[in-house]
Amino acid sequence: MTKRMHLGVVLVNGPTQHIVGEWSLPRQITGHDWRSPAFWEDIARTLERGKFDMVFLGDTMAANDNYAGSPDAAIKYSLQFPAHDPMPLLPYMAAVTSRIGLVATASTTYTHPYTTARTFATLANLTSGRVGWNAVASSHRAESENFGRDSVMPSAERYDRADEYVEVCKKLWESWDRGAMVLDKEERIWGDPTKIRPINHEGRFFKSKGPLNVSPAPEGSPVIAGAGQSDRGLEFCARHSEVVFAIQFTGDAMRRQREKFREKLVAQGRDPNSVSILWGVLPIIGETSEAAHAKEQMIFNSVPAEGGLAFMSAHFGIDGSIFELDDPLESAGTDTGSRGLLDTLAKNYGRAVTVGEAGKLYGCGISPHVVGTAEQVADQLEHLYDEAGGDGFLLMTHYLPGSLHEFVELVIPVLQDRGRFRQEYKGSTLREHLSDD
Ligand SMILES: Cc1cc2nc3c(=O)[nH]c(=O)nc-3n(C[C@H](O)[C@H](O)[C@H](O)COP(=O)(O)O)c2cc1C
Repeated sequence: MTKRMHLGVVLVNGPTQHIVGEWSLPRQITGHDWRSPAFWEDIARTLERGKFDMVFLGDTMAANDNYAGSPDAAIKYSLQFPAHDPMPLLPYMAAVTSRIGLVATASTTYTHPYTTARTFATLANLTSGRVGWNAVASSHRAESENFGRDSVMPSAERYDRADEYVEVCKKLWESWDRGAMVLDKEERIWGDPTKIRPINHEGRFFKSKGPLNVSPAPEGSPVIAGAGQSDRGLEFCARHSEVVFAIQFTGDAMRRQREKFREKLVAQGRDPNSVSILWGVLPIIGETSEAAHAKEQMIFNSVPAEGGLAFMSAHFGIDGSIFELDDPLESAGTDTGSRGLLDTLAKNYGRAVTVGEAGKLYGCGISPHVVGTAEQVADQLEHLYDEAGGDGFLLMTHYLPGSLHEFVELVIPVLQDRGRFRQEYKGSTLREHLSDD
């Protein structure tokens, strides 16, 4: 039997998702302001109607100032600026749905693990096991300055700290045994102290006594997601993640990264089939192929060149303004941004990419575009899925919520008819969706 795809959508709690200038596209006007609950509730309902595995909320905690040393470009072009906190969206989206998984990003670099373990455990209870944590090590300098540091920790230290952070969270989530809640009304005994234990963690970065003062959700601990792209990033995901968000531009490059990741899972003693990689793709759907390509061209034209360069600078940890547009991207080095993403574009695009082209690609959603009629978009997704060797996709968007309504109404039924996507949810937790092939 053909395995079915996993599908999610990646969004940010702000006016700009993945396309620089998308807020100004004619069809962005939707009737609901992105700051209102109604906007997010509609998205959650729509995606649940489409039987999606999850909504995945990325995050950034600063107006990025890598480009020309100032936040001007981030503000001028709304480069994931503003970015409101994703966490408060989860209960709003959970309240109007019952199945879809809800993943939010939280950093391992600027808080203590107890805080994060507590918040996600509380959300796991409130959502009956639908919540996931995208654990990121935070690579932007402007973020580090907002949290009182002069510079970003070097990549190796960030990831070492992230490893320990997640380990502490897991220990806290496991600090309650089954049967810890006795609820014996006659004896007036609520809990069994022998089953709720301190963790007494003392490591290189953190100390935490425990136990967690949140009861475990009956459906299990929060799902851990990751978005590492470099070697070290993938190793982090291989240790901890149950689902991984990644970017590659060709099916072949996806297959290679997937195989590398599966080897890392085996090296960690984990079943390589137990973790899905979801690839970022940007669907652009039209009534005809020509209409879809015209839409893509409109998106491409809407991206201000400087905005694309500044967006890329933010994520790569470089200053795009100091390069000539014709410089090879490979000449740009970084330890503070995403080394993995930079290498992906510089080495795995299928040909050499210049700094100027990288800016445009970044401004247009930094992921492969799947463009055409609903049938053609489904064809391309199937093709990429087969070339990659499985798992699924996290969709990027170009206007909201319309592009998601289109996908759910037009593409999902085609994928379902072809046996490539679930007709119904089998389970009700995010973990169950991820293991439902
Ligand atoms: C596809 C993808 C999505 C990411 N999403 C986020 C995010 O929402 N918030 C964040 O702080 N970092 C995000 N990151 C950054 C990574 O978590 C990581 O800090 C960064 O990529 C540097 O590590 P690397 O060199 O392993 O890529 C993302 C990275 C990738 C590749």
